Amino acid sequence: MAIKFERVSFQYTSMDNKGYLALADINLSINKTGEFITLIGETGSGKSTLAQHMNALLQPTEGRVHIFGITVDDKTKKQRKIKLNPIRKQVGLVFQFPEYQLFEETVEKDIMFGPKNFGVSTEEAAKRAEKMIEVVGLDASYLKRSPFNLSGGEKKRVSIAGILAMEPEILILDEPTSGLDPIGRNALLDVFYNIHTELDKTVIIITHDMNTVYEYAKRVMVMREGVLVYDGDPVALFSKSNIDRWNLDVPDILGLTRDLEAKFDYKFTEPPRSRKALFKALEGMLK
Ligand SMILES: Nc1ncnc2c1ncn2[C@@H]1O[C@H](COP(=O)(O)OP(=O)(O)OP(=O)(O)O)[C@@H](O)[C@H]1O
Ligand SMILES: [Mg+2]
Repeated sequence: MAIKFERVSFQYTSMDNKGYLALADINLSINKTGEFITLIGETGSGKSTLAQHMNALLQPTEGRVHIFGITVDDKTKKQRKIKLNPIRKQVGLVFQFPEYQLFEETVEKDIMFGPKNFGVSTEEAAKRAEKMIEVVGLDASYLKRSPFNLSGGEKKRVSIAGILAMEPEILILDEPTSGLDPIGRNALLDVFYNIHTELDKTVIIITHDMNTVYEYAKRVMVMREGVLVYDGDPVALFSKSNIDRWNLDVPDILGLTRDLEAKFDYKFTEPPRSRKALFKALEGMLK
């Protein structure tokens, strides 16, 4: 098991010293390979807080998180001998707001920062920057630009490139496609999906987009007011009762298949989860 949460709770302390319970008694396990997980939930439900516990940026106020053999709890900060650096290398987290992640004077330096910090040579880090800028859909001309003069979507892509360049074992992306146009969104999702399938890495995506959940995920987690209320199959998540209970948007493809089934009094043996799969199923139906 790469990551394991044991009864994890987390309380933010604010200026007025009133605590806010952002995570309540979370138990979960994540494998090093083979997982493509989406994490969903209403705004303020604790998704980003949960993600930051997966690479020890935040430490639980109760319970324990085990990350690649290192145990993190409320005493970890005080015990300086526990090195959190290896965790940050193994579990790459792309922040929801790229501004938190970009700070160098050029895009190239920004992408190279992570790998260099973990012992990669300058030459190799530069090579990775050149490769990753293309992977996230920008060209090499961006490398010499300042990350601060980019559009929101471009900043997002640069911050993703910086984490990809670290070659983490597990990749966590906090709303990586918010604010991108649909073509850019799908292209980036395909990048993440290829990292999952070709490099056999676990990818976790936080999203508000139910199409991403339905079309890509193998597993979905649902947060609600700091509680993990669902952890399982994406198809089963969208049962009528769950949609009502958690006020979920119906994924486009699912809405369409249900309409088709109702109109033609037909039942798909396996519900298609993408346009491609739907067209294929329709072909069979029309023949
Ligand atoms: N630094 C902080 N201090 C105090 N409370 C915080 C802090 N950061 C977040 N919170 C609170 O903790 C709760 C969970 O926040 P979190 O950012 O994890 O939600 P989220 O599910 O990621 O929401 P969104 O979809 O809007 O990104 C929210 O109610 C938020 O107000
Ligand atoms: Mg968030």
